[in-house]
Parts: sequence; C-alpha cells; structure tokens
Amino acid sequence: MNLKTCQLFTLFMLFVGVVAVIVVCWTAMYGYQDPSVPFWKEEVIYQVYPRSYYDFHPDGLGDLKGITSKVDYFKEIGVGAIWLSPIYTSPMADFGYDIANFTDIDPIFGTMEDFDELLDTYHGKGLKVIMDFVPNHSSDEHEWFKKSVKKEYPFTDYYIWSDPLSFNKSEPVPPNNWLSVFRGSAWTWSEERKQFYFHQFLDKQPDLNFRNPDVQEEMLGILKFWLDKGVDGFRVDALKHLFEVEDVHQDEPVAKDSGIDDKMDYGYLNHTLTVNQPETFGVLRKWRELIDLYSDKLMMVEVYEGQDLGTLMKYYGNETDPLADFPFNFLMIEGLHNRTELTGFSLKSAVTLWLDNMPSGKWPNWVLGNHDNHRVGSRLGSDLVDALNMMSLLLPGTAITYYGEEIGMEDTWISWEDTKDPQGCRYGPERYAEYSRDPERTPMQWDNTSFAGFTTASDTWLPVNENYKTLNVKAQKDATYSHLSVYQSLTQLRKLDVFTTGRIAYPSITEDVFSFVRYADETATYYLVVINTSEEELTVDLHHDASFDLPKTGTVVVRSITDTSEETVPGSEVSLDSVKMVGGEGLVFSLNVEN
Ligand code: GLC
Repeated sequence: MNLKTCQLFTLFMLFVGVVAVIVVCWTAMYGYQDPSVPFWKEEVIYQVYPRSYYDFHPDGLGDLKGITSKVDYFKEIGVGAIWLSPIYTSPMADFGYDIANFTDIDPIFGTMEDFDELLDTYHGKGLKVIMDFVPNHSSDEHEWFKKSVKKEYPFTDYYIWSDPLSFNKSEPVPPNNWLSVFRGSAWTWSEERKQFYFHQFLDKQPDLNFRNPDVQEEMLGILKFWLDKGVDGFRVDALKHLFEVEDVHQDEPVAKDSGIDDKMDYGYLNHTLTVNQPETFGVLRKWRELIDLYSDKLMMVEVYEGQDLGTLMKYYGNETDPLADFPFNFLMIEGLHNRTELTGFSLKSAVTLWLDNMPSGKWPNWVLGNHDNHRVGSRLGSDLVDALNMMSLLLPGTAITYYGEEIGMEDTWISWEDTKDPQGCRYGPERYAEYSRDPERTPMQWDNTSFAGFTTASDTWLPVNENYKTLNVKAQKDATYSHLSVYQSLTQLRKLDVFTTGRIAYPSITEDVFSFVRYADETATYYLVVINTSEEELTVDLHHDASFDLPKTGTVVVRSITDTSEETVPGSEVSLDSVKMVGGEGLVFSLNVEN
C-alpha cells in the first residue's frame, strides 16, 4: 500500500467507525424496529385515559401537555406505543365518547398545537401514537345532528330517524323495543323534527346512519385527516354497534335465561338486530383499504362478544381479505370476573380459546383492563398483579396495558354523590356501584404528594385512590423490587425473538397452576412462566404429568414482589419438581435446553 492508499484506507475506516457509532447510539436511544415487522407486533401498547393521566395546566383534569411531559416515562418502562382515549371536542356527556367535532381538540385537553407537539415529541423518541376513533355516533351537539334535526340537506339522513309506532294519549311510542347499552329505550323523541332518533348509548350520542354513503365518506375523511397528521393507527370504538337492520319495525327477542328481569336493562334483550350486522364488515374493509395506503398503521377494534369466538374472529378477516389487525381479546375480562373463577384450567382455556380460534396468519393480543372495566387487581386480586402482567407481556401477541396496571393500581371507591359516569348515574344510587366505570378511571398515581402528584390544582375530577401514599410510581422506582420493576423486566425480556416469534406449550396445568413455555427450535434458551392461581402457598412439581419435556432446573429471571424467599431470588437455579410459590405468585424461568 503506498502512502496515499494508506491515508484513504484510514479515512474510510474512520468513516465506517463514525457511522457505526451513530447507528449504535440511535438504536440505543430510539430502539430498533425491523421495518418488515409492523410496530404493533413488537411494541407494548399503553392506554392513556387523558382526563386522568397528568394535569399540566392545573385544573384537576389531565391534558395533552401533561401526556407530552411524561414521554420519558414510557421509554423507561419499555412501552412503545400509546393509545389515547378521545381528546376531541365534546360536551363530555360520555367523557369524550360523544364527539362534537371529530377533527379538533377539546379545550380541556389543549389545542391542536398541543397535539402536534405531543405527536412530534413521541415520534422524536421513537414512540407511536394511536387515536380513538368513534364512528358509531356523534354528540347531539355536532353540527351534523343540529342540521339533521332541522332536515337540512345533506344532513337529513345522517342519523337514524323513525316515525313513532303510534301515539299513546298524544305520547309518541318508539318504533320498537330496542334498548340503549346504558339502559332504557334506545329511541329519543325530537320535538322539533317530530320523529324519534336512535342511540345505542346515551340520548346525547345519536347513532350515525352508515347506510348513507355521505356518512361513510365523512368517516373516511376523518381517518384521513388524522393519518395525514401522522398518527400511527386507531382503536375503533363500539364497532359491533355500527349497523342495525334497515327495517326498524321489528322487536328484539327477550334473552331467555339471562336472569335479568328489569325490562330497561340492556341485558334483558337478545341483540339479534342491532349488533354485528353483515354490513359492518364492508365498512371495516374500506377503512382497512384506506389505512393500507399509509405504511405501518394499526387498526384494533372494540367488540365485546363474551365467548362467542366465531363472531369475534370475523373482525380479523382472513389472509386474502384482511380487516382489523385484531379485535381486542377481552377473554381475561369477560371470562374471568373474580378470583373464584380463576384457576389454572380457566386461564389455559382463556388463552387457548383465542389462540386456537384465530384465523391463520393472524396476531393475538391480551387485555387485562380498560376504562370500561374494573381494574384487574381489584377483580382478580392484588397479589396477582405481577403474574397477570407476566401473562399479558409474555404470551404470544400484543400486550395492551391500561394506565396504572404497571404499578398495580386498584379501583377507587366512589360515593354516589361523586359519581360522574353516565352509565353509573343511570342506574341510580342503589345500583350505581355495579355499573359505574369511575372506579377504574381515577387519577394516575405518580408520587406521594397531594393528589398523588397528578395535579397542583385544589381538586381532581374524580377522587384519587387513598392508597396513593404507598402505591405510586415514585415509590416503585425507588424500591429495588416493585410492580414497576417487574413490568420493566418483562418489557425488556419480551424483546427477545422467542417471545415475538416463538411457539407456546403448557407443561403443567392444574386447578392451582397455570404454566406456559415459550420456545423456538433455533434457540437454546426457552422461557417458562408459572402462576399460582390460588391464594395459598404451594410447592409445585412441574414435572408431574408434564406434557412438555422440561429440564430438571430453571433459572429465575423475574418473580412476583410478594415472594421474598431466598430460594427464588432472580438468578437462582431452582429444581422444577419443587418450586415454592406464594399465593398469586408468578415466576419466569429461563431454561437451558442444550444440556
Ligand atoms: C365504548 C367506550 C365506552 C363508551 C362507549 C360509547 O364502549 O369504550 O367508554 O362509553 O363506547 O361510545
């Protein structure tokens, strides 16, 4: 090599070195995402309920600037995407699920500039932002509805209007017996238009008429508006309610054996005419086609169908006709109401019911809680918090975390006087506690200062849980072992390929034990998750009746914070035929399968 070549070579090597350093730093700061894998197959999605997350402009209600200011928290805990419950202009009759302008921000949350700042900040840190999309209904304060009431063209048929069936002493009688999800008739009389309008939810949430092509176009326009802004996808609200049969002069049948005698209660009827109508899938397909014009976007849809997997799975579509990326998997909510229902068998059937029924090539997901259901720690037991996070984060598929689940937040008791949720309010002081969704919507518990560090205002929209002094993010960051540290370990662990693409087996299932292994042919390390579903201390023999060939021992990687024994300190090697576990505990082992 002559001198010149030598200098050029040195320069070239320096250049390669600098590029490598930049790549390594970038990856460390923003995370690496394989462009061929959609982000939602790798990242944990975290539901933020904006009213309750963080109150930056202190008025007792959370806001967008508050969420922006917490961006680093998500990086720290290993979450890759946030889903924002509605932040659009709204009279807040159903706390934002009643939208008066689908393409603007409600002043209580901030401005469009605040939203743009949030999106830039999150994207700048490599985090995705998913919006709530509420197509089934608008607010009665939306311009469309106001014009529809007046029969102003082209809005006349934007909603579902019907003449009365008859008049009962000058009182108009609704065209049928259909009920609102929130109780009572689903029809409200408009004195001005002299017709009834239909609402699956509140009378302040009139249902849009998806049989009108203009309405379909409006909704596509709204999706496009947010996609053009750069959002990363949508959570589609109340999708199964999108269509009702066209001829409204038909009653729904009474749900026999429902045990519900209250004729005004939604559960009293069998909803054969108002949910999951075939037309819904045509509209969903159009949304899919639009979203697919953009790259790497998510569409997850909300459909509550209990154990009716046949209906649920239709929302996935299939390989040649893809629809939603996934309908939410609510089996851990709808199938497991309380601790008594929780056994090794019931957990396994909840898991396999989804996995075994999914259309081929589709992707699972796991939901433990949300703003419509009691918090998982309160439903199933606070001792199970870590174990359930192990399941949701280490089972195959996307994990969806409801805010506060990472620190084990619990429901907050709320008096009738303080109750805000319209669903709770409509059931009255005797029954509100059974239906109110306020307990799971209280402010995020950041620290032990007043109002849990959520606000510096003099009050909060819902009371803060009294347990905030000890149960908060700061205390859990300061502790060596906490729900938060367990959560962080799990979000790190799930980055391993074996959790994204590996298979699953269930070595040992009993009344009290649920266990699963994640494995792949090409890896020498498998991972085993074991959960003691009972409230008692147990010694578990994972080899007994094992349907999967397990090694003699496993190394503890993560354990529930309730376990303080010396034998299971992370890093310890434990004999798998006698694993001591406290009630509700979860343990994650790495298994060396080469020996
Ligand atoms: C969805 C939302 C719920 C809301 C309802 C009506 O189920 O999750 O909070 O009340 O739709 O929009």
